[in-house]
Amino acid sequence: MNQLLERLQEKLQKRKQEGNFRILKPQSCLVDFSSNDYLGLARNSILQKNIENTLTQLPQPHLGATGSRLLSGTHPYVLDLEAFLAQIFQAEACLVFNSGYQLNTAILATIPQKNDIILCDELLHASLREGKHLSLAQSHYFRHSDLEDLEKKLQKAQEKPHTNIFVVVESVYSMDGDIAPLHEIIRLCKQYEAYLIVDEAHSTGIYGRQGEGYCIAQNLHQDIFARIYTFGKAIGGHGACIAGSKILIDYLINFARAFIYTTALPLHSYVHIRQAFEYIAENAYLQENLYQKITFFRTSLRNLSHTSILLKESYTPIQILKIGGNERTKLFAQKLQEAGFDVRPVLSPTVKAGQEIIRVCLHAFNAEKEIAELCQNILILAKEM
Ligand SMILES: Cc1ncc(COP(=O)(O)O)c(C=O)c1O
Repeated sequence: MNQLLERLQEKLQKRKQEGNFRILKPQSCLVDFSSNDYLGLARNSILQKNIENTLTQLPQPHLGATGSRLLSGTHPYVLDLEAFLAQIFQAEACLVFNSGYQLNTAILATIPQKNDIILCDELLHASLREGKHLSLAQSHYFRHSDLEDLEKKLQKAQEKPHTNIFVVVESVYSMDGDIAPLHEIIRLCKQYEAYLIVDEAHSTGIYGRQGEGYCIAQNLHQDIFARIYTFGKAIGGHGACIAGSKILIDYLINFARAFIYTTALPLHSYVHIRQAFEYIAENAYLQENLYQKITFFRTSLRNLSHTSILLKESYTPIQILKIGGNERTKLFAQKLQEAGFDVRPVLSPTVKAGQEIIRVCLHAFNAEKEIAELCQNILILAKEM
């Protein structure tokens, strides 16, 4: 083995010793309490038919996009879709990217410039962290949803002349399912003249009559510089879009390398996005079901407070059981999996040592019986541990 491979092997070995070596497994046939398909749209046969019917009516010269949108041109359907999304997200303009990951790296790598400062919540998704690394701007983390810490960092940033300050948060945090204190963050951003960027990945589709997300549902969107919506979670498809001013969108089309130098999505993905939003608007029961399931799950676990396992405060589909310890958390998850439930442990170093959790994702399609059985198993295990 050459020197490089030896080095790679050593790092893999370390992962194995620490108990967090990753492997790709086939999709599980356990009851789904782990996917991001909150409304079940990725498995909805009516939506699938709607997509197929729309596709057959469109002039579709190619299966794939054949190049980037700047090189191969943009299908008129995509331009219409972006106008439709701008209407839903109540923005001057929207631009679709191939994924949320690409979009998040692009916005932070492209918009903040050398003398600027980016202030990031410490629990931001990996894609925003990656974007922050790619940026020429200075960046700092503030403690998770800690307004005092954010204000301190804003004050410090404001001392630097000729600096644009960016604050980056998620509306619903992907790891813990908690909601950012956006009203207060917006107040601080106004006070310190900072530009707010909000990742709405886990709120897209599940808030608002049309699935327009948390910020619009709370009427906060006018005070946000850029909002990021992803379509691989509650929308059940793929891709993401940014909603903001026309100048912002034109700037990204001209300078965002992750948009310019990549093959666009196939037409099918764009049709999926539009059909999914139309389906959500026509089927309000999906969101209602989801929120009923969340309440049912939390009430079924009220006796957990008598054990050492903590159910974190969250009224989103992402529910967190705080277990603590890699081995203990892995064992807890493994027992639930053996009982037929697909739940996933989140171990250190992904979270701080001692803060290991089990992440339970609830869906509109989870039957009450399945949730009741899952909760019963959790309560039994919690008493045993
Ligand atoms: C908060 C957040 N932002 C962005 C992404 C990336 O989105 P995508 O899966 O479309 O690349 C994710 C995906 O897990 C996420 O949780």
